[in-house]
Amino acid sequence: MKRCTIRVPATTANLGPGFDAFGCALKLYTDVTFEETEAGLEITGCDEAFTCPDNLAYTSYCAVLASLSEEVRGVKIHIDANIPICRGLGSSAALLVAGAMGANVLRGSKLSTQGLLNITNAMEGHPDNLAPAFYGGLTASMVDNGLPVTVNFPLHPDWEFLALVPDFDLPTPLARSVLPTEIPRSDAVYNIAHGAMVLKALELGDERLLRNAMQDRLHQNYRKSLIPDFERIEALVRTTGAAFCLSGAGPTLLCITLDPHLEEKLAKKLPAITQANWEMMPLFVEFQGARVIAAE
Ligand code: HSE
Repeated sequence: MKRCTIRVPATTANLGPGFDAFGCALKLYTDVTFEETEAGLEITGCDEAFTCPDNLAYTSYCAVLASLSEEVRGVKIHIDANIPICRGLGSSAALLVAGAMGANVLRGSKLSTQGLLNITNAMEGHPDNLAPAFYGGLTASMVDNGLPVTVNFPLHPDWEFLALVPDFDLPTPLARSVLPTEIPRSDAVYNIAHGAMVLKALELGDERLLRNAMQDRLHQNYRKSLIPDFERIEALVRTTGAAFCLSGAGPTLLCITLDPHLEEKLAKKLPAITQANWEMMPLFVEFQGARVIAAE
């Protein structure tokens, strides 16, 4: 096979208390096409800044070939990204997943999805976006002896994930740099208990339980200062009855609801309380993970 296109869903990580562990795939996609050539690297479809060999799709492509002990020949990579970049919706994980799957498919699909997750997790450092991008749906992951272990959880199909995406980005390393390296035991207990409740509420479609459970003491409070509108938007969303959290490392904020009118309710009030411009993106759960959509 010479050429393939991989479609990878957006993902929201953490889901409040499930820091570095929970994630969910959403119906918004980045498609990446890989075509083997005689020599060289050509990357199109993205800003010039992302056309170098450190492009994540290419680095994971090379990592998979290295693990197969296969040579890297030339490759043309075309990126068609609908996932907003550096906004907390899994754009980096999508490129890593696409590169890993692209290399594997072009060289005969010798590695399993778990094998590809192992390789990309070693590059990313935490599996919470990668796992739902590979498997779809709602996932929880742990890293045991350096290897990621993922399980899927049942999820009520009617949830709407209304993403509020600002006009500024927030690099994940910056969003992680503000986190403390140690936390009180009471905060650890708080997150374990709330995390378990979040999973059950998402399964049952229990919006009230989700609203109460979706609170966190490991990361969100520390990250608020990087997102000036955070507290005003949180207060507004909490008046609607929806659950609220930071999407991944931010800056996207996420409302999770069963109310089909939440977007119009927020649209009336949001501009009056915010400094940044916030685009509302109604998203729904993607139960299928990354897949090959074209191959020849
Ligand atoms: N769990 C990660 C974080 C997600 O919150 O930093 C971003 O990759």
